[in-house]
Amino acid sequence: MNYDEIIKNTLDEHRYMHTKGVVDTAIQLADKYGADRDKALIAAYLHDFAKPLGYEESLKLIEKFGIILDEETLENPELLHAPLGMAIAKYEFGINDEEILDAIRYHTTGKENMPLLTKIIYLADLIEPSRNFDGLEKIREAAYKDLNQALIISMNNTIVYLIKKNHVIHSDTYKARNFIIRNLHRGN
Ligand SMILES: [Fe+2]
Ligand SMILES: [Fe+2]
Repeated sequence: MNYDEIIKNTLDEHRYMHTKGVVDTAIQLADKYGADRDKALIAAYLHDFAKPLGYEESLKLIEKFGIILDEETLENPELLHAPLGMAIAKYEFGINDEEILDAIRYHTTGKENMPLLTKIIYLADLIEPSRNFDGLEKIREAAYKDLNQALIISMNNTIVYLIKKNHVIHSDTYKARNFIIRNLHRGN
């Protein structure tokens, strides 16, 4: 399947450039940390496939696909495209690989005990070349040295940002962060 062609025809220029950046970055990280680069490529191409859909349409599709979501995800329109993207990858693109589906599903929040590919897509989404936000350079630098450190820095950054904005913090994000920190303390 020519994912590049599909994404180019589906996403606007800005989102297409972002997606291309995530693909390139995810492949670099997959090579560095020993993940499957073909899976990284597919997950990266499809991670924001559902992003152009509006809130109401997303909710309808979520119901159609029978996805059960927690309150924290349902109340945040920014998060819906991740579980919906997973369902589209599965039911419309016929992808059954659990690692790819998990990486798409949790690319916005992270989750407790993230598999390697999920960590890679989560970070690639944040550090791809067209991104620009406070604290990005530190995360980018860490991503090529120590994946878990990069995740902690980025999740700390996200949590602080959400607190400053007085927004809800999705519990998957602090569970993801706590899990990595506990393992580092145990020396894993
Ligand atoms: Fe996304
Ligand atoms: Fe993205």
